[in-house]
Amino acid sequence: MTVLVVDFGAQYAQLIARRVREARVYSEIVQSTISAEEVRAKKPSAIILSGGPKSVYEVPAPTLDPAIYELGVPILGICYGAQLMAQQLGGDVAHTGGGEYGRTELTRQGPSFLMEEWPDVQSCWMSHGDAIASAPDGFVVTASTPLAPVAVMENALRRLYAVQFHPEVAHSERGQELLENFLHHVAEIAPTWTNTSIIDDQVAAIRAQVGTERVLCALSGGVDSAVAAALVTKAIGTQLTCVFVDTGLMRQNEGEQIEATFTRQFGVRLIHVKAQDRFFDALAGVTDPERKRKIIGELFIREFEAVARELAEGDEGPRFLVQGTLYPDVIESGSGHAANIKSHHNVGGLPDDLSFDLIEPLRSLFKDEVRHVGEELGLPAEIVWRQPFPGPGLGVRIIGEVTRERAEILRNADHVVVDEIKKAGLYRELWQSFAVLPAVRTVGVMGDGRTYAYPIVIRAVTSDDAMTADWARLPYEVIESIANRLIREVPGVNRVALDVTSKPPGTIEWE
Ligand code: XMP
Repeated sequence: MTVLVVDFGAQYAQLIARRVREARVYSEIVQSTISAEEVRAKKPSAIILSGGPKSVYEVPAPTLDPAIYELGVPILGICYGAQLMAQQLGGDVAHTGGGEYGRTELTRQGPSFLMEEWPDVQSCWMSHGDAIASAPDGFVVTASTPLAPVAVMENALRRLYAVQFHPEVAHSERGQELLENFLHHVAEIAPTWTNTSIIDDQVAAIRAQVGTERVLCALSGGVDSAVAAALVTKAIGTQLTCVFVDTGLMRQNEGEQIEATFTRQFGVRLIHVKAQDRFFDALAGVTDPERKRKIIGELFIREFEAVARELAEGDEGPRFLVQGTLYPDVIESGSGHAANIKSHHNVGGLPDDLSFDLIEPLRSLFKDEVRHVGEELGLPAEIVWRQPFPGPGLGVRIIGEVTRERAEILRNADHVVVDEIKKAGLYRELWQSFAVLPAVRTVGVMGDGRTYAYPIVIRAVTSDDAMTADWARLPYEVIESIANRLIREVPGVNRVALDVTSKPPGTIEWE
């Protein structure tokens, strides 16, 4: 039971695909160049055409193989997808010049399959310049807005539907209900895509792929590798060996947490490589951010490789390697850009004679699904809800030279920031919240004495995907308690500053 989301604009398509999954239906994103034959081969239960940034009048504007409308598969067009459907099936789309952006009143006209229980007037979220002026033959117009005479049109006989507004955005109050009506009632797809079904499917797939072979997994402390490892453990138990390389640049208690979970709770063999000294030695005297990244990335791979080689001695070595690749890493965007592959912790860098077959149990999942699967597998909330952490770890938050002492100051400071953010109940709301250690020292006074120590910068941002971010408006009381604790509890710190830069122009990390 798959729903295909046709991508006319990557951001829109991903959000729709996630909303479909929230309705407990499996969705996949496909490019708009897909042919009717390719669609038929995928046997979808429904198709959704996404919105997009273009106008149907632009040349070249992305279009759709018109034979797809003839397949008998229920289709819902959204925004650009709605206009394209109208135009391709013989209606008119007007280049109005004006447009509706933001909250707009939608007025219903007569009975509707999509908006069954809706009131006569409902607010919805619009973002369009062009508008459908007249619906194609066979369609009934069931709602309009001041500037969109055909805001919703329905052809119940052919099961073709189109909405000008964006039901996938949270601002469209009844948007999710509309999607669920389309999926569950119009397309008659049962809501069976649940965490349990995801786990069962993956466990079966991993067992089939691995058989009795051995598997290796690098745990980074992050959510993805932990959930991937937990899934593999459920599937093949002790055939899995996990490796955790402590670079000395991890967050507080990260190593202990991993040990406690995987060794004690799951009973997995965990090789804890305490490589701190080698990382600090390699980083001595290095201040250039990109060189730091390169050194950390390469050394990580060397450390991991050393373990893999040791395990590979004899015939019992692992044949498979687990990767925490997620769906957004896999899908190609509508503009045809190749998938972005994570560079760090990416074992693509392993030498040729150490080749593994990959197991990627999260390949079809979005981040929020990964977290829910992790919870259901019994991983502690502290791991499952952890904010993203860069591969090079604290290394890119220590401006200037990375030393043991400076890493210790930052780790302690980071712990204070995160602890206070959690106490304030803000941790899950924020995309990331952490401490940064600049390469300057400032004068202060404490007790009777003059101090000359480091400032700590508080960095907290909200974001959906890390491509853009806004600085978080933390309550003054939270900032105050963070600042007080940093100065009181973290030796080496005598001043606190707050970063109020959004992205762009800033990046989230300082290096
Ligand atoms: P920036 O700083 O570019 O970060 O706004 C965007 C997101 O990526 C993370 N980040 C990294 N992740 N290796 C990683 O695995 C890196 O070198 C790296 N640099 C930044 C950052 O934490 C944020 O979530």
